[in-house]
Amino acid sequence: MTDVLRVDPAKPDEELIARAAECLRGGGLVAFPTETVYGLGAHALDTAAVLRLFAAKERPASDPLIVHVPSIDDAMPLVDEMPRAARELAARFWPGPLTMVLKRSPQVPDVVTAGLGTVAVRVPVHLVARALLERARIPVAAPSANLFSRPSPTRAAHVVADLDGRIDIVLDGGATNVGLESTVIDLSGAVPTVLRPGAIDLDALQLVLPDVTSHRAAEGKPDATAAVRSPGMLAKHYSPKTPLYLYRGDRADALDLMKADARQRKARGESVVVLAYTEDVGELRDHGLRVVEFGVEADPPSVAARLYAALREADELGAHVILARTITTSHPLSAAIQDRLRRAAVIATP
Ligand code: TXA
Ligand code: MG
Repeated sequence: MTDVLRVDPAKPDEELIARAAECLRGGGLVAFPTETVYGLGAHALDTAAVLRLFAAKERPASDPLIVHVPSIDDAMPLVDEMPRAARELAARFWPGPLTMVLKRSPQVPDVVTAGLGTVAVRVPVHLVARALLERARIPVAAPSANLFSRPSPTRAAHVVADLDGRIDIVLDGGATNVGLESTVIDLSGAVPTVLRPGAIDLDALQLVLPDVTSHRAAEGKPDATAAVRSPGMLAKHYSPKTPLYLYRGDRADALDLMKADARQRKARGESVVVLAYTEDVGELRDHGLRVVEFGVEADPPSVAARLYAALREADELGAHVILARTITTSHPLSAAIQDRLRRAAVIATP
């Protein structure tokens, strides 16, 4: 049985937080909202609890977890050392949607790090997450609270849809703020490297660490061509069950290509649904297409906030294919939106 507990995200009920914290301390599994997406928490120093977490998500053991703590001081016992770069980033971005990969201490069980010599740590800013971590007084390993390979959950209902009966508690604090996962930066090597783009973009990181770079896989283009050549090589993350086709390029070209493809598919008897920016909805409907709106292209935060929910909604329509186009607005969130769209897609058009 999974208990869903409603909490006020601005002022979480202390008794409910205490109940969830006790559950975590006892080795249970608790889903909770963060500013990015919902996380599924387990006691990070309890190997049995972490193994239950992997089982509940059907996540492969080779994929390491992020450990959540209430402050940088609480991260100290988990890491071998806290380099200056990490302290500077923490001073600027913690609490907040930044995850740092650091050399680990022996305290952290192998199951958490998938046997790596590093550990990922993050201090979330969401009040429910903070209250839970402060109350539990243990480091909490928390991946996104979805079944492996499903879109990350941005509402409690998404968690319930994937994990009902598999976990103990869902703290329902409403929709998450950002809607996309944290930026992951690796500080364990010579050059700080972004492994996953997120709400904190490269420009913001460079103001603190001028030499930070982005991993090729986090940049977009090289991987997208790899996806066309060999879809199996692309890590299947964030994806709907329905195949998603992504149209690149400027708005007019991408829309024309999308409409032409949709026409052909419908002629073959396929049903099509388009994940559409608000700006495109009228034009696509006029063309007789079914649409799920996923935010205003000119306002990327609205797209980030809606993206995963829209992917789930589009999936539920049971169409043969989902069509979408890449975001063309320049914004700190655009790289992360592009990254998630690309990973959700089976194929990106050149
Ligand atoms: O916003 C977020 O980060 C959310 C919320 C719940 O905090 N969590 C999240 O966790 O997205 P998850 O497990 O879905 O993604 C964790 C990412 C994965 O890409 C994983 O490979 C990477 O972090 N990661 C974890 N530990 C790592 C390590 N030691 N070295 C490199 N990458 C690591
Ligand atoms: Mg995830």
